[in-house]
Amino acid sequence: MSDISLEQLTSLCKRRGFVFPASDIYGGLAGFWDYGPYGTELATNLKNLWWKAVVKENREIFGLDGAIIQNPKLWEASGHLAGFNDPLIDCKNCQMRFRADSLIETNSSNIEELTDLLKDKPCPNCGKDTLTAPRQYNLMMKTWVGPVEDDSSVAYLRPETAGSIFTNFANVLETTRSKVPFGIAQIGKAFRNEISPRDFIFRVRELEQMELQYFIDPKDQDQEYEKWRQFAWNFLLNQIGIKEENIQWHEHDQSERAHYATKAHDIYFKYPQGFKELWGTHNRTNYDLTNQSKGSGKDLSYFDELTNKRFIPYVIESSVGLGRLIMAVLINSYDEDEINGEKRVVLRLNPKVAPVKVAVLPLSKKPDLSNLAKQVFDQLATNSDWSIEYDETQSIGRRYRRQDEIGTPYCVTVDFESLNDQSVTIRQRDDTKQVRVKINELADNIKI
Ligand code: GAP
Repeated sequence: MSDISLEQLTSLCKRRGFVFPASDIYGGLAGFWDYGPYGTELATNLKNLWWKAVVKENREIFGLDGAIIQNPKLWEASGHLAGFNDPLIDCKNCQMRFRADSLIETNSSNIEELTDLLKDKPCPNCGKDTLTAPRQYNLMMKTWVGPVEDDSSVAYLRPETAGSIFTNFANVLETTRSKVPFGIAQIGKAFRNEISPRDFIFRVRELEQMELQYFIDPKDQDQEYEKWRQFAWNFLLNQIGIKEENIQWHEHDQSERAHYATKAHDIYFKYPQGFKELWGTHNRTNYDLTNQSKGSGKDLSYFDELTNKRFIPYVIESSVGLGRLIMAVLINSYDEDEINGEKRVVLRLNPKVAPVKVAVLPLSKKPDLSNLAKQVFDQLATNSDWSIEYDETQSIGRRYRRQDEIGTPYCVTVDFESLNDQSVTIRQRDDTKQVRVKINELADNIKI
């Protein structure tokens, strides 16, 4: 594996159509990104794999697609309006603003601790001793619902997908006729007014999350916590091919953990800027259902008919950001090697996540060759759910390089001999090995 810098990754993603700055022609907007054709395919593949492993393969887990804007009382009850803060620091000289905890090596967000740690720190931008003391800054993105912009119409874009899972606890329990333990999973956008979005798609203001809330009897908390912690690790290794040396556990100590969580483990991935958070597993206790119950006045307790016990379920949460996962997958698969003395960049993506599975490449644009190649494309496209690309421009070498750079596991070359022997050549991305196969046996020779 070769290492890739953040600049190289950002440039590869733009050059090859994975990720573009949002509103690129206007110079972009900090913290917002658009996913291009290959980024969209990669994201869809990752979402489908996660959905299959979480929802489809578990009889007791169900999907939800909640609204992005909810009644603000939800965020009051969850504690986000009062406490979803990051420590902000300003420079009185150059007017730059920073996340206080990004100026020093700490995971703490405690204002007193940060004030102490930062007291002799100069401004990293202008070098002057003119930093203010840190203060709390709320990350919720505000909007107004309806035609009148006043206090009564204020609403917020959700900061996490979990909120509507908690408010739908009773609805899902009832409509699916479930019993605890059961889970609700959701994939969707969330918004955070980050002080300093940075590191490409690592810290953004519009993000997508894949979250599971698993509702349990408190007596099972240790066992269920371990199960979902291991699930995240195994998913990364076995489902999408992350290398074990690229991930590590990070257990939250008390200063880092949300006050209601009794345990929290993140999986850190080796990003170019260091090992950083990718996926969190948290024991959220009964904090969320208790508070939503208080906030709404609705009883969100559960009656267990087997034990005749009533309790408020505990929640084990598994939460991963899709953008951070995409970034991890790209970094994990990036490689450079040499083929016949020529340097190439190759994404050694697991075929299941690769945005394009097969590229059909006629050796020339001559009509009879194009026609046969288009038939090959149609045959593969109608008989599979793979995304397949057809490309007949530029030299074959350059077309291979392009497919290598977007991680296409198979190129199918249609040449003049194909017209006579009804055979094509399959070229494999990783070792560039070529095998000749009959067109009607082509799909059987492609392993996704
Ligand atoms: N419901 C729990 C929750 O939202 P979190 O640790 O704040 O917990 C979960 O976020 C995941 O979402 C993180 O592990 C990370 O992958 C992703 N994430 C959080 N903030 C992000 C941001 N500003 N940009 C990109 N991804 C982010």
